[in-house]
Amino acid sequence: MNNPISSVPLLDLKAQYATLKKEIEPVVLEVCASQYFIGGPKLKDFEKNVAEYCQAKYALGVSSGTDALILALMALDIKPDDEVIVPVYSFFATAGCVSRLNAKPVFVDIDPVTYNIDSSRIEKAITSKTKAIIPVHLYGQLANMEEIKRIAQKHNLFIIEDAAQAIGSADDKGRRAGTFGDIGCFSFFPSKNLGGFGDGGLVTTDDEGLFNKMDYLKNHGANPKYYHKMIGGNFRLDALQAAVLDIKLKYLDSWTEGRQKNAEYYTSEIEKRNLSKFVTVPAKTDGFRHIYNQYIIRGKDRDGLLNHLKSRNIGCEIYYPVTFNNQECFSYLGYESGDFPEAEKAASETLAIPIYPELSFDQKNYILDSIQEFYL
Ligand SMILES: Cc1ncc(COP(=O)(O)O)c(C=O)c1O
Repeated sequence: MNNPISSVPLLDLKAQYATLKKEIEPVVLEVCASQYFIGGPKLKDFEKNVAEYCQAKYALGVSSGTDALILALMALDIKPDDEVIVPVYSFFATAGCVSRLNAKPVFVDIDPVTYNIDSSRIEKAITSKTKAIIPVHLYGQLANMEEIKRIAQKHNLFIIEDAAQAIGSADDKGRRAGTFGDIGCFSFFPSKNLGGFGDGGLVTTDDEGLFNKMDYLKNHGANPKYYHKMIGGNFRLDALQAAVLDIKLKYLDSWTEGRQKNAEYYTSEIEKRNLSKFVTVPAKTDGFRHIYNQYIIRGKDRDGLLNHLKSRNIGCEIYYPVTFNNQECFSYLGYESGDFPEAEKAASETLAIPIYPELSFDQKNYILDSIQEFYL
C-alpha cells in the first residue's frame, strides 16, 4: 500500500467549516449585534428558502428533529392509546416520541434491501386504534411512499414522514422527502447533510391549517401572545442556527453530489476488487435521489470488520445495534426478540463507513484497502 493516509474519521466537520468560515462568521456577528435571537428576519428567510428547497408550501424551523416529530404528533391530535405504526429499525426518536405522548408505537419489520419499512407488512399491523404511520427515509433514501400513501388513504390514516436523514432525497418523479405525507420532519443535527451549529429541526406541510397549528404549538399554543389556544411547548429554532443553516443551504446540493460520487466510487471499487461476495453495498431504488446521509455496508463477520477498521483508525459506526423490540424501555409493549427477523439481522450485519463529501481519493482508497485486507 503506497498511501500517505493512516486514519479517516467517520465525519470531518472541520473540513467543511474551513470552506465556509469567511461567510458564516460575519452573519453570526450580525445576529449578535442585532440581539434578535428568537424569531426575526434570519429565521423567516431560512424558512422561506428551505420550504422552496423541500418543494413544500410551508416550513417551520424547530428545536430538533425529535421536537419536529413531537410537534407533528401533537398537531395531528395523537392521543393516549392511539396506535402509530413505525419501522422497528430507526433512530430512537421515531418510536420514543410516540410513547412520550402515551400513544402506542406499533412496530413493522424492514425491507432487507433498502432497510426502510416493509410496506407489504403495514396493513397487517393496522387496527381500529391506528391513527398514523411514520415511515422513515433511512440513511437518505425514500421509503416506498406510493404504497404507503395508498394504504394510508384506504384506512384513513395520517402520514408523518421522518425525513431527519433525508433532506433533498426524491422519488423517480422528483418529489422530495417531506411532501408525501401530512407533515415532514427533518433534523439539522450536525452530522446531517444540512447540519447546524447545535441542535435544530424543521417541519414541512402543504396544509395551511396544520401549518398554523404547528406555529402556535411551537410557542406554547399561544395566539396572540399570552392567550393559549392549546397546550404546546417551546419548540423554536434559534435565529443563530437559522442564519448558519441559511448559508449552508446554498451548498447542500454540491455536498450531496460529493456524497453520491463517493458512494458510486465505493460501490464500483467493491465490485472491481472482488469484494462483493463479502460485502453488500447500499441498494439505490431505480430513479430515486439517494442523498447518502450514511453509506451502509452489510458484511460477513461485521464485528471483526469493525474491529479491523478501528485498528486502522477508520471511523465507523453501527446504525443501529438494537432494534426497538429489543430495547429495554419498550419491553412493556410485549414484543419478543426474533419478532422482526429482517431488522434484527440488519442490526447484527451492517456498518456505516465514512461518506462525507470532503473525503479525498487517498482516504477512500485507504478505507477500501483496509476492507480488502480484512477479507482477502
Ligand atoms: C431517523 C431519525 N429520526 C429522528 C431524529 C432526531 O433528530 P434530532 O437528533 O435532531 O433530535 C434523527 C436524528 O438523528 C434521526 O436520524
